[in-house]
Amino acid sequence: MQTSIKNRDRAHIRQTGINPNHWYVVAQSREVKQDPISVTLWHQPIVLFRDSQGQIHALEDRCPHRQVKLSHGQVVNDWIECAYHGWRLDTEGNCAEVPYLADNQKLPSCKIRRYPVQELDGFIWLFLGEDNPDSIAPLGLPEWEHLNYIATVSIINCNAHYSYLIENLMDMYHGHLHHNWQAWTDAKLESIDEDDSRVDAHYQAQSYYRIDKIWSISQLFFPALRRLHPEPLEVSYVYPHWVSTLGQDFKICCLFCPISETQTRAYLIHFTSLNAFWRLHKLPVGFRRFVKDSLYGSAQKLLDGLVRQDVVMIEEEQQSFLQHPERNNYELNRALVSVQRLIRKQAELGNTEFSC
Ligand code: FES
Ligand SMILES: [Fe+2]
Repeated sequence: MQTSIKNRDRAHIRQTGINPNHWYVVAQSREVKQDPISVTLWHQPIVLFRDSQGQIHALEDRCPHRQVKLSHGQVVNDWIECAYHGWRLDTEGNCAEVPYLADNQKLPSCKIRRYPVQELDGFIWLFLGEDNPDSIAPLGLPEWEHLNYIATVSIINCNAHYSYLIENLMDMYHGHLHHNWQAWTDAKLESIDEDDSRVDAHYQAQSYYRIDKIWSISQLFFPALRRLHPEPLEVSYVYPHWVSTLGQDFKICCLFCPISETQTRAYLIHFTSLNAFWRLHKLPVGFRRFVKDSLYGSAQKLLDGLVRQDVVMIEEEQQSFLQHPERNNYELNRALVSVQRLIRKQAELGNTEFSC
């Protein structure tokens, strides 16, 4: 069945806001060191910093004195000090110290917003909305610490609305773009499950991704070595993030940080499974940790290459929309209709339709 995405809807979806009442990923743990860093989540500039215990804090990235960015400053005794006049804000966002305060002056009672933030599975998760952050759990990545999984992270920075990226990830027919670079071929959408919080698209594919011999990984690089076998290919939009599995051994996720209507940052994480190598599991934990850490990023070239190809297409879609919003798209993949429905539903729940 052919489904036409009409102009009116198309314009709507590409300018739809986010539901802020979720845990978004704003940075990798390794990106936040001693100095404060600035991130942006859906138009909100946020400063992230660590206290002396290594705990992460997130505040609005503006000094209440004259509105410059706090992220230009430094962390002093667990408080953040503005670069301009040296005012210090505590971790709750209260003005805590002004270096030139006269004896007859009171500390200004100004306060900036503090965001719920947590460090989990190698990433910094931030809750943007006003709802109770405990009402929903961050997605999390159980494989991140697991000794049987080797992670590779590719950072996606694309000048496009987040809907283009999630549609790309949910549409397994775009394997055409990647030629022989993917771990599977001949994907066919079999069914879809959806509700107000997620879309699960069930595809069947031919896979050559079975990491049961040391040489298995070489199939990714040498098509002649491939042994195809049918595997279920599951792709899920677990709002606001994405998770995919191919059979038992393959898992890949994408953690979203939508920045604006035309800018999206995301982290694509691929896990190589060592589950089949049972002899390895009997070795001392310290050695297994060493193997895991040493092999971190081993699929980097491959993953970055895939991301580059996708980003070119996604940014062209965005540009085309900006130049010709009147043009129709014609979509054959039902999963994308479900994805757009979920985006609209969540924006409605968050009541953040962008208007300006
Ligand atoms: S602007 Fe930040 S201390 Fe003055
Ligand atoms: Fe892709």
